[in-house]
Amino acid sequence: MQKLIKDALQEIQQASNLQELKNVEVKYLGRSGLITDLLKTLKDLSTEEKRTKGQEIQEIKKSFTENYLIAEKKLQKQAIEEKLTKEFFDITFNEINPQRSQQKGSLHPLSILQKEVEEIFSEMGFEVADGPEVESEYYNFEALNIPAHHPARDMQDTFFLNCPTDKKQGQLVLRTHTSPVQIRMMEKYGAPLRLIVPGRVFRYEATDATHDSTFNQVEGLLIDKNISLAHLKGLMQEFLKRFFKEEATVRFRPGYFPFVEPGIEMDMLWTKNGKSKWLEVMGAGMVHPNVLKAGGLDSNKYQGWAFGFGLTRFALLRYNIDGIRSLHSNDLRYLKQF
Ligand code: DAH
Repeated sequence: MQKLIKDALQEIQQASNLQELKNVEVKYLGRSGLITDLLKTLKDLSTEEKRTKGQEIQEIKKSFTENYLIAEKKLQKQAIEEKLTKEFFDITFNEINPQRSQQKGSLHPLSILQKEVEEIFSEMGFEVADGPEVESEYYNFEALNIPAHHPARDMQDTFFLNCPTDKKQGQLVLRTHTSPVQIRMMEKYGAPLRLIVPGRVFRYEATDATHDSTFNQVEGLLIDKNISLAHLKGLMQEFLKRFFKEEATVRFRPGYFPFVEPGIEMDMLWTKNGKSKWLEVMGAGMVHPNVLKAGGLDSNKYQGWAFGFGLTRFALLRYNIDGIRSLHSNDLRYLKQF
C-alpha cells in the first residue's frame, strides 16, 4: 500500500496537462481503479481487520485527493496562460495593416450641403419640413395657382404616373418642385409659418452638363402679418454669406411664377479668377392670395413670401465643379473627394 500511494503521488506530479491528470485519477479512483479495488477487498476481512485496513485505505484516498486537487489547480492555471499566449488578439492589427482595415462610409456631398443649409436656417428660426416626392396634380399645380391648360405647366416638364386618382387630386406626378409642400404645411399648421423644405424634384428633360432629370431644391416660406420682400433680401444675403463663407452681393429682378405676386428672381454676384458676373440663383415672391386661400388661410389677414433655390446648383458653385451628372453617378472614386 505504501508503494501504491508513492507511485500515485509521483504520477500526479508528473502529469503535464489536465488530460494526463484525469487519466491518473481514472487509474486509481475509477470504477476498477487501484484504490477502488483495494476498498473492494475489505468485504472479505474480519471486523477488526476491516477497521484498521479500512482506515488505512481512507488515508491513502484522502492523500491522493489532496494532491490531485493541488495539481489540478496548477494545471488549470497553466492551461489559461497557454491559451492567453496562443490566442493573443492584437487590437492594433488593423491599424498597422491598413489594407485589412474596414472602409468607412461618408455622407454624399449633397447631404453634407443640405445639412449645412438646414443648420443655417434653423439658427435663423426656421423649421425644416418635408413632403412626398410622389405628388398629385392638385398640390403640384392646381393649389399653386397653376390651373389645367395654364401655359406654366409647360415650364416644368412633368413625369406623370400611370395610376388612377380622384377628380380633385388629378393624376399622380413626380413633384416638379418643392413648392407643393407650402400648401401641405399651411393646411397642417395654419399661420404663422416659417420653414424651409429641402427635397428632391424631378423633371422630364434631356440631360446635359447642367441639367438632370432629378435634382435637389430648397423651398422657403414665411407667413405672418405685415411681411414684405425687404425681409427676404436681408435674410438671403445673410444665408449666402454663411453658406459660401464670404460676403454676398445680391440683386432682385422681376420674374414670373404663378404662385407669387409680385414674383422676383434673385441674382448673386459671383467672383472667380478676379472676374465677376451675376448668377441667377433663385425664384421668389410674395405668396399669391390664391395660394394662401388654397392653404386655408385668410389672405386679408396674412401675407408671406416664398423662395425656391437649387441646392444642386449651389453644390456646383461651392465645390467649383461644372458637371451635374457626376453628383448622381454614385461613383465612389468621385464622391470620396468631398
Ligand atoms: N418652384 C419654382 C421652380 O421650381 C421655384 C420657386 C420660385 C419657388 C418662386 C418659390 C417661388 O417658392 O416663390 O422653379
